[in-house]
Amino acid sequence: MARITEAAALESGRWVGRGDKIAADDAATTAMRNTLNRMEIEGTVVIGEGEMDEAPMLYIGERLGLGGLKVDIAVDPLEGTNICANGTNGAIATIAMAPTGGFLHAPDMYMDKIITGPAGHGVVDINKGAGENARQLAKAKGCDLCDITVVLLNRPRHHKAIAELREAGTRIQLIEDGDVAPAVATGIEGSGIDMVMGIGGAPEGVLTAAAVRCFGGFMQGRLIFSCDEERKRARGMGIDSLDRVYLAEEMAKGEVFFAATGITNGDLVRGVRYFAEGARTHTVVMRSASRTIRFIETLHCFDYKPGYKQ
Ligand code: FBP
Repeated sequence: MARITEAAALESGRWVGRGDKIAADDAATTAMRNTLNRMEIEGTVVIGEGEMDEAPMLYIGERLGLGGLKVDIAVDPLEGTNICANGTNGAIATIAMAPTGGFLHAPDMYMDKIITGPAGHGVVDINKGAGENARQLAKAKGCDLCDITVVLLNRPRHHKAIAELREAGTRIQLIEDGDVAPAVATGIEGSGIDMVMGIGGAPEGVLTAAAVRCFGGFMQGRLIFSCDEERKRARGMGIDSLDRVYLAEEMAKGEVFFAATGITNGDLVRGVRYFAEGARTHTVVMRSASRTIRFIETLHCFDYKPGYKQ
């Protein structure tokens, strides 16, 4: 798992701050796909870069691997394309795997989400107000409200929640993009992030759910439809109850694996650092069966990894 996201980060990391998010995404996607195709798996992409007719690689339904273990794969080779293009904080390369049928086939649309670490079970609820959720979480964690940090995408659609959180007196981190990394950070004690809430991408929601399963956190997600066409697409992907609130356990079932490597620096992992002979990467890998969370600092020597040499 680490090799897959490391490869994507090493390639897209070359594009940090260069203003070309398409080239950065392409580099990450190619590297991820090549690495997956060298693995002894019989993988099917269920959350990917798009439908077959719109994405040349890692499209939904694409088969990957040399054959072997049957797995469903959720990928976001470059989560935070604008972040990478601008060289700001929080871009990651990420992947999750589950047994066949384990992932919700979420269409490429929005999802309302709330994510916390284990303390949020039976405490926060997507149907409650933002301030109330922060208050309850602080109580459950035995913290003052001003010790709790909530992350939201900086979008007009979140103005009401932001106002409620400010009224409640909690700390807020507004991010411009990339809601997967902070959501995963809610499960890492001491990361400084306690809760992520608001509307972001649904595919990103499924990847997040896989990580949440691995650290025993709490997550709810509800698809947000902007038109009938989206409702039709969701039904076509097997989603019958359109206003259903999904738990992490319903979006990522069975034994799941999750990995993310930093492309740029962030609260979860550090970005790629290049030097003359190679580069250093920082990766988090987890699996639901053991709930072990591994942070892997890797030194890559490009003389022995010729593909990466510039
Ligand atoms: P990309 O990596 O595809 O650019 O998406 C990043 C992202 O910020 C996600 O992390 C987030 O869930 C979603 O886009 C938010 O969408 P929008 O920018 O439309 O509010």
